[in-house]
Amino acid sequence: MTVAMLIIAFLKHFECLVLFPSLQSGWFQLSEGSDTVSVIFKSKGGEIVPGGHVIAKHGCWSLLKGGVVANFSSPFEILFKSKDSTVEIWADNVSLQPFTKRQWRSLQDASIQRERKRKVRFQVTSINGTAMKGAKVIARSANLSFPFGCGMNHYILTNRDYQSWFLSRFKFTTFTNEMKWYSTEIKQGQENYTIPDAMLNFTKENCISVRGHNIFWDNPKQQPEWVKSLSTKDLEAAAKRRIESVVTRYKGELIAWDVMNENLHFHFYEDNFGENASAMAYAKAYELDPKPKMFLNEYNTIEQSGDEAASPFNYMKKLQEILSFPGVAGMSAAIGLQAHFAAGQPNLAYMRSGLDLLATTGLPIWLTEVSVAPSPNQAEYLEEVLREAYSHPGVEGIIMFSGPAQAGFNDTTLADENFKNTPAGDVVDKLIREWGTGPHTCTADDRGFVDISLHHGDYDVTVTNPLTHSSRTLSLSVKKDFLQETIPVK
Ligand SMILES: *[C@@H]1O[C@H](CO)[C@@H](O)[C@H](O)[C@H]1NC(C)=O
Ligand SMILES: *[C@@H]1O[C@H](CO)[C@@H](O)[C@H](O)[C@H]1NC(C)=O
Ligand SMILES: *[C@@H]1O[C@H](CO)[C@@H](O)[C@H](O)[C@H]1NC(C)=O
Ligand SMILES: *[C@@H]1O[C@H](CO)[C@@H](O)[C@H](O)[C@H]1NC(C)=O
Ligand SMILES: *[C@@H]1O[C@H](CO)[C@@H](O)[C@H](O)[C@H]1NC(C)=O
Ligand SMILES: *[C@@H]1O[C@H](CO)[C@@H](O)[C@H](O)[C@H]1NC(C)=O
Ligand SMILES: *[C@@H]1O[C@H](CO)[C@@H](O)[C@H](O)[C@H]1NC(C)=O
Ligand SMILES: *[C@@H]1O[C@H](CO)[C@@H](O)[C@H](O)[C@H]1NC(C)=O
Repeated sequence: MTVAMLIIAFLKHFECLVLFPSLQSGWFQLSEGSDTVSVIFKSKGGEIVPGGHVIAKHGCWSLLKGGVVANFSSPFEILFKSKDSTVEIWADNVSLQPFTKRQWRSLQDASIQRERKRKVRFQVTSINGTAMKGAKVIARSANLSFPFGCGMNHYILTNRDYQSWFLSRFKFTTFTNEMKWYSTEIKQGQENYTIPDAMLNFTKENCISVRGHNIFWDNPKQQPEWVKSLSTKDLEAAAKRRIESVVTRYKGELIAWDVMNENLHFHFYEDNFGENASAMAYAKAYELDPKPKMFLNEYNTIEQSGDEAASPFNYMKKLQEILSFPGVAGMSAAIGLQAHFAAGQPNLAYMRSGLDLLATTGLPIWLTEVSVAPSPNQAEYLEEVLREAYSHPGVEGIIMFSGPAQAGFNDTTLADENFKNTPAGDVVDKLIREWGTGPHTCTADDRGFVDISLHHGDYDVTVTNPLTHSSRTLSLSVKKDFLQETIPVK
């Protein structure tokens, strides 16, 4: 591959002395044609970190957003490249904005305050209207609005410790493998839903919402063995039976479907049925079960800046392709980002710029399978990724693919063989508390006022008279558009 490069002179010797995230943006076009332009950060030592991609064209400017979390202690170069060395890359308004880790965190906190919380003021008085100084107000969350959940596997059916571990933490889940075609129809024509049925019984009994995962997987290796050797005609019949079987069976029971898993990286069904294979699967799933959100579900879009195939830009292209297909009109489409992070410092700047771009679609974004590979800093990196997602206004849900060692979760293990928290498990429990489970306790001031900042959700609020110790409890629903300034409590 020959590379056309344009070095932006004024950024060439950008000094950077600490580990820091930087957001990068710029407008690009090509002297002719259309091609992917990538930004690359290159250290003096030759280390190369890709930082973002855009499809640039001749005749109109395209915005490239990206970034890097660098730990280069020497000047580095910022390069822009396209595959076609015969065209010139034109750039305008290129900027690089560095942040310290502390600045980054305080921006996240401010965004969480804005997007996920409301300040609530109570005024506590006696029946005769005098302020009740010293009244104790406790807000306990009954039901938080933001879905922060965890994958689950078949061990949940038999392992009581796993059950209580899960139930004390999560209300949202995805079955990691049990609904997949290779699990439900191991032998052609012999469907067996015993395990996912039983898991769904368990989640129903415990009021846990389930994402359906997945109807098809576009990776040729991830098919049931017998499917791999079918003729196109037989595959067509088998695929039709598959989608009708699984979607009809769980119709109305799930909050989402991953319809065609990983169709940016792979194209098993496109190879067999033509370019509209994914779109046709979405249209069929929507026809059979119209309510759930219908997700694309892809890896490396926000977690791996070097994977151009699944870049946020290409993700949006695929999405538009599917959404322009006639049969999907009216479907509630959604963006699924697996978020399997490798070991090492996650590139939060790339992650944020990708979420920014995807959020311009206005569609809900979920992180669907969050994991961070084992390393000495695993817990710290997991926390960075989860905070970045939770603080982004476009993100509407997070599911981790993680769990206790006894259930075989050996990548992002949250509890060891004795159900003692790992450091990553401590991070998750800390965030569950911080993101709203409370309880939040406050005392009324001279004027009977109590100010609490609460995450969106439903709360039971108990107010106790400091003298008589009598108390009363009220229900409170805190929403984004929650406007009442002061809640009187007599
Ligand atoms: C800095 O980057 C180098 C090369 O990628 C890596 O080996 C090193 O662990 C990084 N240091 C930190 C503190 O992340
Ligand atoms: C670059 O910024 C200038 C000044 O804000 C603006 O006039 C111009 O349109 C921008 N260029 C592009 C390609 O957006
Ligand atoms: C109002 O009621 C409180 C407690 O019942 C009492 O301590 C206070 O004196 C009353 N104030 C007036 C103005 O009646
Ligand atoms: C919790 O809240 C969600 C969304 O606000 C609602 O759909 C659900 O029914 C609530 N669950 C309970 C147990 O109140
Ligand atoms: C279906 O799966 C269950 C659980 O793995 C197994 O016990 C049962 O024997 C299977 N049924 C058939 C007919 O194979
Ligand atoms: C699920 O629950 C239903 C109703 O309680 C029961 O009839 C069924 O046998 C259960 N299925 C499994 C697989 O546990
Ligand atoms: C795929 O669908 C589009 C409409 O979204 C249509 O224009 C195109 O002809 C279809 N391609 C094939 C091969 O059927
Ligand atoms: C983790 O579990 C998977 C699946 O059970 C297995 O293939 C893999 O070897 C395990 N990895 C480690 C590091 O134990």
